Amino acid sequence: MLELKGVTRHFGGVRAVDGLDLLVPEGCIFGLIGPNGSGKSTTVNLITGLFPLTAGTILFRGERLDDLPTHRRLQKGIARTFQNIRLFGRLTVWQNLWVAQNSPEDRARRSFFARWLGGRRRARDEIAHLLEFSGLAHKADEFAANLSFGEQRRLELARALAARPRLLLLDEPAAGMNSEEIGQLRERILALRARGITILLIEHVMELVMGVTDRIAVLNFGQKIAEGSPAEIQADPVVRKAYLGGGAT
Ligand SMILES: Nc1ncnc2c1ncn2[C@@H]1O[C@H](COP(=O)(O)OP(=O)(O)OP(=O)(O)O)[C@@H](O)[C@H]1O
Ligand SMILES: [Mg+2]
Repeated sequence: MLELKGVTRHFGGVRAVDGLDLLVPEGCIFGLIGPNGSGKSTTVNLITGLFPLTAGTILFRGERLDDLPTHRRLQKGIARTFQNIRLFGRLTVWQNLWVAQNSPEDRARRSFFARWLGGRRRARDEIAHLLEFSGLAHKADEFAANLSFGEQRRLELARALAARPRLLLLDEPAAGMNSEEIGQLRERILALRARGITILLIEHVMELVMGVTDRIAVLNFGQKIAEGSPAEIQADPVVRKAYLGGGAT
């Protein structure tokens, strides 16, 4: 589904991502882990097109992505959540989802009449469903800024889903959550995979990563130092060393 070949991004002298090869198969939950500053968020930013590659190529469903602008990648079915929550605080929960669903690109894609006759009803049904899925139905008319931290995280996920992605990039969705919330997040991630959405999960919370992923890649200093099943990764001495601060090289 998603293939990175030699993906590289330098910031001045910093090799944030350095020759990364990654193959994310359709329908899986793929974990991307690594110490702070190892290049995980930069990888997501490169996949979504927030900034250009220094070198390498990215393929999505066999098509080259790396010369497309962000909105075209969203159109192709790639949505994300941010490590630092980004919502429209002065819009309601419902409006945040409506905006995500009705991005200009989305509007251009569907014809006016199709939208007018059938689209509106369907769009509203989808929002109702997303609110239910996220446990936010009772907060539909609340301003996003007034939500608790956990609710804002749920709304961010719902907003990414409103764009109807095939591939969902989650950048530390469990950060700041208590264990009950992490349990609920885990159920939601599994439910999304069951619906056929492919997920790239970046996370420091090992209990979540090890419990839901099918496969994991480990970054250190922008390079992949290990890849395998959760059990293989947990047993890997190179990975342990990187996490204990010894560095990989
Ligand atoms: N826009 C930027 N400009 C300059 N340097 C950047 C930029 N974005 C990231 N970096 C640098 O690139 C490296 C990788 O950062 P990145 O945010 O990808 O790490 P990360 O793995 O997501 O870390 P964390 O676990 O703390 O979120 C870091 O050294 C960081 O300082
Ligand atoms: Mg990050």
